[in-house]
Amino acid sequence: MQSNIPNRLFEPLTLRSVTLRNRLMMSPMCQYSAEDGFATDWHLVHLGSRAVGGMGLICVEATAVSPEGRISAEDLGIWSDDHVEGLRRITSFIRQQGAASAIQLAHSGRKGSKNRPWEGDVQLQSHDPKGWTIIAPSALPWSEQDPVPVEMTVADIQRVVHSFKEGARRALDAGFDILEIHAAHGYLIHEFLSPITNHRNDIYGGSFENRTRFLMEITKAVRKVWPEHLPLSVRLSVTDAMEWKSVESWTLDQSVKIARLLKQEGVDVLDCSSGGLTPEQRIVGGAGYQTAYASQIKILAEIPTIAVGLITDGSQADHIIRTGQADLVAIGRELMRDPYFAFHAAETVHMVTPWPVQYLRAKP
Ligand SMILES: Cc1cc2nc3c(=O)[nH]c(=O)nc-3n(C[C@H](O)[C@H](O)[C@H](O)COP(=O)(O)O)c2cc1C
Repeated sequence: MQSNIPNRLFEPLTLRSVTLRNRLMMSPMCQYSAEDGFATDWHLVHLGSRAVGGMGLICVEATAVSPEGRISAEDLGIWSDDHVEGLRRITSFIRQQGAASAIQLAHSGRKGSKNRPWEGDVQLQSHDPKGWTIIAPSALPWSEQDPVPVEMTVADIQRVVHSFKEGARRALDAGFDILEIHAAHGYLIHEFLSPITNHRNDIYGGSFENRTRFLMEITKAVRKVWPEHLPLSVRLSVTDAMEWKSVESWTLDQSVKIARLLKQEGVDVLDCSSGGLTPEQRIVGGAGYQTAYASQIKILAEIPTIAVGLITDGSQADHIIRTGQADLVAIGRELMRDPYFAFHAAETVHMVTPWPVQYLRAKP
């Protein structure tokens, strides 16, 4: 029976066998600081400090399931068993701090082969020493200046589905509690979902059923190796933010439909973001600008959701949870500014959250 007592930010959340100590998640954020896909000390400290700082769930950045699925050459990777050890060090530290860990499995699609944001943030041609051949559902570049991706064959599609499955198996080995499939922000899976980037006329393009086939196949493959007792999340761009233009695009109603189907395949939570597919998108950013997507998906698809996007203070985050708009709140940039966001949020909403024993003498 559902309780009428509202949940609060610093109350636990149980998904399958995993109980999070509170409703605050560190949003996945690429650090462009890996070496050949291997996690470095930067990752341990960056992620570990937010676990020390009281977050409930720490989600590791977009981690490429194959080398060409990276955004930059310095992205994290999970395409080899050798990558597991460095990730295990991170999950083990996070667990010791009382937080849970998630990893976001990703493939960059047509948005890969870039240099780092602080090196220009531009796409590199395949002949560039740090570039490679990018792949996508259709041979459509991000913009006229950018490299044209190679249209994937059905064999390519099956290979990538298998890479996600292998990535999930390795994530389990590395000790993650939750797995997230990155189907948002204009990367490969999203490129299949949207009619803007998917012009295929085989069974992977055209109808809703065909455009969603790739994501459904990945989800089923991942669920086969990701155990029953552990939660699975999918991050969606709930809309392409192209409603302003009279073109077929990916929209909220399709996200609701896919959310229902994903739920049937054992997905436990939907991480609700938006956009990233095309430079023509129109998004009006402001405090909590994507929270309505989380509440709509939660109500209409009856699945737990994560709200994300310009959630920057404790009372705002607590309000989202108390009003039942989402089950978890993901914090991105604010957490880079303030690794102790969770402690400050607890103070703001007058709730108690445990501090690391090493820091007790500093507690207000
Ligand atoms: C530096 C940076 C890296 C990011 N990398 C990822 C990523 O790896 N995967 C992802 O799904 N979103 C990524 N995002 C988006 C964030 O997870 C988040 O959705 C977005 O920043 C909005 O939340 P915020 O307003 O709290 O920052 C990134 C954002 C930033 C600023």
